[in-house]
Amino acid sequence: MRYTRLGSTGLKVSRICLGMMTYGTPQWRPWVMDEEASRPVVKHAVELGINFFDTADMYSGGECEVLTGKFLREFCKREEVVLATKVYYPVDLGFKGGASAAAKPDRRPNMDGLSRKRIFHAVDASLKRLGTDYIDLYQIHRLDQETSMEEIMEALHDVVKAGKVRYLGASSMYAWQFAKMQQIARSNGWTPFASMQNHYNLAYREEEREMIPLCRDQGVALIPWSPLARGFLAGNRKAGDKDAGETSRAKTDDIAQNYYYRDSDFKVVEALSALAAQKGVSNATLAYAWLMHKGVTAPIVGASKTYQLDQAAAAIDVQLSQDEVAKLEAPYEPHPVLGHV
Ligand SMILES: NC(=O)c1ccc[n+]([C@@H]2O[C@H](COP(=O)([O-])OP(=O)(O)OC[C@H]3O[C@@H](n4cnc5c(N)ncnc54)[C@H](OP(=O)(O)O)[C@@H]3O)[C@@H](O)[C@H]2O)c1
Repeated sequence: MRYTRLGSTGLKVSRICLGMMTYGTPQWRPWVMDEEASRPVVKHAVELGINFFDTADMYSGGECEVLTGKFLREFCKREEVVLATKVYYPVDLGFKGGASAAAKPDRRPNMDGLSRKRIFHAVDASLKRLGTDYIDLYQIHRLDQETSMEEIMEALHDVVKAGKVRYLGASSMYAWQFAKMQQIARSNGWTPFASMQNHYNLAYREEEREMIPLCRDQGVALIPWSPLARGFLAGNRKAGDKDAGETSRAKTDDIAQNYYYRDSDFKVVEALSALAAQKGVSNATLAYAWLMHKGVTAPIVGASKTYQLDQAAAAIDVQLSQDEVAKLEAPYEPHPVLGHV
């Protein structure tokens, strides 16, 4: 494993971050794995040298944080591991997430969002579920449009100063919004965001327009979510018949089926598969290598089997020529914005 600093901070993170959304309870989403099935995968990640783990309060209605805390206590030293979580969405098993068509609970006042009250409550609830007394990277999962940016940034700064959080991060939003929040933090002497967790992969490259150049210029770490387009880039998802996928997630991940699965997206997979075969690596390895070539700090990988982690780690040593990058990027056709609130 190799390690790098998280943006401009002194914090050292592995070049691969393990996304914990896959672990929790299948009651939340059918492809999510329970504790017993998850344990060997997370253990293998630690054995590979991964020290960076990303969860969120809303995954599996809180159960993902519970398992994350438990696994990291079993396999890691707290002072060496980097534990990232998120706040914004309702923490409720009935809430399936952003673009999902599945049932959502009635949104009751203060059960979600980023008000000062909500952030103070949510950070304590996350600490309790995680079974730790601080979070290394506390991220806003989305931007709450109903709370002022000043209120959000001051509340986040206060949880840092209270010793509950070490660094702050943000996730999908428009670049102008992110730039404005950073400016508000700086002009008030509050803690700015150290990282941006955005939606970026070979099948979704809209972030190259504004957010990625902004983060690179400002020294903000890029830690993209769904680096394989929720498994779509692996090459085992089928055009036409969405039920014909080879894995539980391929068959049932309706978010992936809504986001990708266009003819031009399958052409991206064809180009990826062709070059991967030529280079003797898997689609997944090459898709992660491309992200690293584009300057990301650490892709947040999802893994349902241990071999998938080996293929992620292998990406760190894959070199790409300009010609190869051009081949991978050629079939891409722009998408509408996907993954904001
Ligand atoms: N901030 C946000 O809004 C946001 C949104 C989404 C995700 N996330 C974060 O990002 C993490 C990763 O998201 P994701 O799970 O959607 O990421 P992903 O890496 O795009 O997809 C992971 C899926 O790809 C398949 N896969 C992985 N490696 C493979 C390999 N070597 N060969 C074949 N298939 C492979 C597996 O599905 P199969 O089971 O089908 O094999 C796995 O579940 C999450 O855990 C979460 O921490 C954040």
